[in-house]
Amino acid sequence: MPHNPNERKLEQVKNVYSFWGKFPSLYSAQDAVTFLGRAKTIRRRAVEKIGLKRGDKVLEVACGSGRNFPYLVEAVGKEGFILGFDYSQAMLDASKQLCERNDWYSLKLVQGDAAQLKIHEKNFDGVLSVLGISAVPEWEKALQRCYNVLRPGGKLVVCDARLFTGFLRFFNPLINVVYSKFAAWDPSKNIPEKMKEIFGNGEVENLNFGTFFIATSIKKGK
Ligand SMILES: C[S@@+](CC[C@H](N)C(=O)[O-])C[C@H]1O[C@@H](n2cnc3c(N)ncnc32)[C@H](O)[C@@H]1O
Repeated sequence: MPHNPNERKLEQVKNVYSFWGKFPSLYSAQDAVTFLGRAKTIRRRAVEKIGLKRGDKVLEVACGSGRNFPYLVEAVGKEGFILGFDYSQAMLDASKQLCERNDWYSLKLVQGDAAQLKIHEKNFDGVLSVLGISAVPEWEKALQRCYNVLRPGGKLVVCDARLFTGFLRFFNPLINVVYSKFAAWDPSKNIPEKMKEIFGNGEVENLNFGTFFIATSIKKGK
């Protein structure tokens, strides 16, 4: 058992997602619950927010089993380049199978910790993360790495979940326990605020009664 708390959390990520990676259909099925039946709409909306063009280069951090790849492939076309990055080799294996089934050859998959983001490519037109940053132990470092690999004018879009407010908040303790245990989710991270701090700008769209948000920041400069 690692002593360092971040290493312990990474170990949890590895264990939790080796299960989901073996059962990608089950993972897809739980999407309906997590997104309250609006998974396709919200995932598509998050990709639209990046404003990608055909031929663009995009990075998906914590891409998991590739649930956003259809929208990214549609946006950048066969002439574009997509890099899917994830800590869980099992989730990447599921992604690889999805790519093979769909003949998506312009996609590259890399395993690693998003807080280090060891990749050769840089100057991405866009970076996406859906339900990913909230599971990354050193999430602030990961956001900084996303900033570093963007070209000036490129956008980071993070779509993630929040706990209920209002009368539904009575479900929060249960949701917190279930999703932290089975998805390594930590809703206490203020991702939009940190993005604003790193990029110097940011906008947030709230969806699903405030239980989802899409935060967008643009890297300034020419
Ligand atoms: C809830 S899943 C989301 C997967 C995918 N983005 C989606 O939209 O379905 C969270 C993902 O974050 C990945 N993850 C957690 N910590 C990570 C880290 N430090 N570096 C890279 N990926 C990480 C997990 O392996 C898992 O695939």
